[in-house]
Amino acid sequence: MKILKVDKLSIRYKLKEGEVQAVENVSFEVNERDVVGIVGESGSGKSTLAYGIMKLLPSNAYFKNGRIYLFGKDILKIPLEEIRKNRWKKYSMVFQKSMNALSPVHRIGDQIKEALTIHQPYLSQDEMKKRMERAMRMVNLPLRVLKAYPHELSGGMMQRTMIALSLINDPKFVIFDEATTALDVVTQGQILDEVKKLVENLGLTAIFITHDIGVIAEICNKVAVMYAGKLMEFGSLKEVIYHPLHPYTKALLKSHPDFLKPGEEIKGIRGALPDPLKSFRGCVFAPRCEFASEMCFEREPEEISVEGRKVSCFNLSEVSK
Ligand SMILES: Nc1ncnc2c1ncn2[C@@H]1O[C@H](COP(=O)(O)OP(=O)(O)OP(=O)(O)O)[C@@H](O)[C@H]1O
Ligand SMILES: [Mg+2]
Repeated sequence: MKILKVDKLSIRYKLKEGEVQAVENVSFEVNERDVVGIVGESGSGKSTLAYGIMKLLPSNAYFKNGRIYLFGKDILKIPLEEIRKNRWKKYSMVFQKSMNALSPVHRIGDQIKEALTIHQPYLSQDEMKKRMERAMRMVNLPLRVLKAYPHELSGGMMQRTMIALSLINDPKFVIFDEATTALDVVTQGQILDEVKKLVENLGLTAIFITHDIGVIAEICNKVAVMYAGKLMEFGSLKEVIYHPLHPYTKALLKSHPDFLKPGEEIKGIRGALPDPLKSFRGCVFAPRCEFASEMCFEREPEEISVEGRKVSCFNLSEVSK
């Protein structure tokens, strides 16, 4: 079953100086039980895409074009009441800056209970208590956390709390936006294991946003690689990690110790993302691409799509050598 279809989506932010092209013409699909990783360096539009899917964009952002079908419904067209009914229940998100999402003056338990009460007011007090305790166990948190205030928790505990909160209404689909980035590797590993269990045991479908391609390799079955608002490559984990087609994906892999061949040295990607306020000609990655030819600076490559795998590059035969 298809859970999400993003079709030629573009999202822009209006600023005094001009418009930021944060997401440009992005298309991909997420099927039931997929865990799709979205990877790309800071500023590539990952969070904007996630906020767009959740219909939670700030007021200076707008959908320039495209469609988002979530559970078969075009969320850019359905009334806000319907979105409010389903958001946080049928689907939810763990925010990148989730530390700020909890109220500092209320106990964790009361805040989680409120999320349950809003969406499932018919549950008995007993049932609510059971669900809250189950959610805490799911993310490996002691029950005493329910009685604590946010400032009494460590960063890792807070992050787990946010994951518990996002799961409290048994959603079918969750977007994790850098949910483990601020954590030490041990805690990060534990959370990834917990998410894996949720997918296996509860049939969860997820998008996992991170700039760490190592995290993607551990948890995802599909990968979307974003650069400067554009989708550079999309495919199964094995295809993208072991047979990358796009020079940017290759460069990302070469800059991570987990994907180097024996004896190979880590190689950073020279240069920086282009100014998102400026329009450009040709392929947006060309100025940093070691395979770029004249044509890459002249024209934008069309997306090539074969059996669910997508890539936008003129030099595929060179890159895959
Ligand atoms: N509220 C906003 N107003 C204007 N521009 C914004 C806003 N939020 C994000 N942007 C811009 O949109 C582009 C994409 O940002 P976004 O936060 O989606 O990137 P990201 O891939 O999530 O980055 P990171 O890895 O740092 O979280 C960037 O150029 C950013 O500066
Ligand atoms: Mg982000």
